[in-house]
Amino acid sequence: MSDHKTMTLTLIVWRQKNASDPGKFETYTARDITEHHSFLEMLDCVNEDLIHDGKEPIVFDHDCREGICGMCSQVINGAPHGGQERTTVCQLHMRKFKDGDTIYIEPWRARAFPIIKDLIVDRSALDTVIQAGGYTSCHTGGVADGNAILIPKPVADEAMDAAECIGCGACVAGCPNGAAMLFTGAKVSQLALLPQGKAEAAARVTAMTKAMAECGFGNCTNHYECQAACPKGINVKFIARMNREFLKAQFA
Ligand code: SF4
Ligand code: FES
Repeated sequence: MSDHKTMTLTLIVWRQKNASDPGKFETYTARDITEHHSFLEMLDCVNEDLIHDGKEPIVFDHDCREGICGMCSQVINGAPHGGQERTTVCQLHMRKFKDGDTIYIEPWRARAFPIIKDLIVDRSALDTVIQAGGYTSCHTGGVADGNAILIPKPVADEAMDAAECIGCGACVAGCPNGAAMLFTGAKVSQLALLPQGKAEAAARVTAMTKAMAECGFGNCTNHYECQAACPKGINVKFIARMNREFLKAQFA
């Protein structure tokens, strides 16, 4: 019975032709949506209707649709990824909405993320930060070599917690300063915690924080909005660890 119930929703969506277009909100109706549709499937339905009517579909980023790739960047009703704890847009389901709801959909808003079209922003600034030092050039050897270095379980667990970051950029979009410190803190920490990452830790944190500033990201002023927006539950303690690594690097 419930399978046959459908919802009709009003969508107020940001439409922007290109980077220089000022953009504006446009209103659409999403019809025949069930609670089993994902949020992106709901947008697919709206786009099918638009294409059928000879109109331009709403352009949005997506890839894995499994919460892994970090592509699905949308601000829904004012919250990056829709504001549901530890949930990417692609993992958000229409059962969270009800018939007759009005939903606002916008792209990430941040100086370092220029809008390309509609809901798609250019997040290559995050790649620039990674290219500055978010890797290790040490040879880690084969599986046996990796296991030869004993790592305390709590340290390995903490490194894995940091490594959960999928580079979606919601932390930047949620931050009133447009800071990328949760993202960079996670990437710095996942390597700084492990023996193979320690060799280049000072050079890494120096280069990555420099790249962060050059890309136009702001600074952290402890709002904690990044942690609230993060679909992977990355903790702000990794910002504190990055700051400690940065200070240590100044005396290295
Ligand atoms: S820290 Fe969280 S919100 Fe920021 S890029 Fe990584 S996964 Fe996304
Ligand atoms: S589409 Fe990959 S995380 Fe959402």
